[in-house]
Amino acid sequence: MYLTKEEERIYDGERGWANQICMKILVRLGELFNARKLIPISSAHVSGVSYKTLGDAPAEFLKALADAEGKAKVRATINPQSFDTEYLGGKLERDLREKQLSILGQFERMGFTESLTCTPYYLRKPRRGSHLAWAESSAVVYVNSVVGAWTNREGGPSALAAAIIGKTPDHGIHKSENRQPKVLVTVDTPLKNEAEFGALGSHLGRLLGDEIPVIQGLGKPSETCLKQLSAALASTGMVNMFHFTKVTRQEIGRLEKVSVEAGDMRNTVESLSTKETTEPDLVFIGCPHCSLSEIKEISLLVKGKRVKKETELWVCTSHCIKEKARDYVARIEKSGGHVLTGMCTIVSWTEKLGIRTIMTNSAKTVYYAPTMNKAEVTFKPMKECLATALRG
Ligand code: F3S
Repeated sequence: MYLTKEEERIYDGERGWANQICMKILVRLGELFNARKLIPISSAHVSGVSYKTLGDAPAEFLKALADAEGKAKVRATINPQSFDTEYLGGKLERDLREKQLSILGQFERMGFTESLTCTPYYLRKPRRGSHLAWAESSAVVYVNSVVGAWTNREGGPSALAAAIIGKTPDHGIHKSENRQPKVLVTVDTPLKNEAEFGALGSHLGRLLGDEIPVIQGLGKPSETCLKQLSAALASTGMVNMFHFTKVTRQEIGRLEKVSVEAGDMRNTVESLSTKETTEPDLVFIGCPHCSLSEIKEISLLVKGKRVKKETELWVCTSHCIKEKARDYVARIEKSGGHVLTGMCTIVSWTEKLGIRTIMTNSAKTVYYAPTMNKAEVTFKPMKECLATALRG
């Protein structure tokens, strides 16, 4: 792979160990994928922030990088952690809390913004056509497909290295020829809510592997619906983007065809629950993290009602969105729900809190929670989730 003189100096260690190790990670990755060079990025987003999934060795690596004065060269954001300090922090063992906070401390020392969200595009939307190195798979699919930025699906270490170097190897969907659709998906049945968009994503992820689709028949989907579709596609498959624009006749001819019928959707929706219950321990909305408009909608749906004593209602978002949504948050909290920031249910220790059943509108959560949280899952649209959480 071609390196500029300055990149060579970094590779040879002239700019310190932290930069050298990060450059080596990027060069190794670039060589693996036959990249010819590194390209500048405008932002990086790092996953693998929760101590639950990270463990001790990667946490030590982060500390070593920070000790060696590794510093982010571009805007760098991080994924959610394992608990929120206000509500869940006090319920967890001290040792776990301290280890998690130490990880956050290392990111802070390296100049990462304390974003703690899987929807960093709500904090600052990347420019169309800008190159990024993002590692949260749901956000990768969303920014490529909906926002129009360009990023591969990075792993935690490669996004970290890219943040510190400010560059990424030029391969995959950083190249326009690799962003072309291969499959035409026709959805022959109307999708009724955000959960069904998630179910479509789960179905297509399994079917498509890593083939980029152009999806027809979505109508005029909301950003929330596209976010659920993106997150689920990335959970069950390796697709990093989709198109949902009109295709020309010429294009149709060269594309493989797949259709999605009402029966496919019904079967997928049914298969996503492991248990049908109206008494879940937890009703969870916010995977991926809620937008301002979702928090507003939730606040309207819970207005003047009370959450059942035996059920927890968690709404997860970023600190930044919670700040903007103060009045809506107050209404949700008045009803007995909790608006938790900077955390992710999947990478938190829900089993230690006695949560055995989770009801959610997220196809991504129901995919991961049975293994990651050892929980039974019930998949329903947001309105039904909230109706279950509320009394009467
Ligand atoms: Fe976000 Fe966690 Fe879901 S990182 S996308 S809330 S699994």
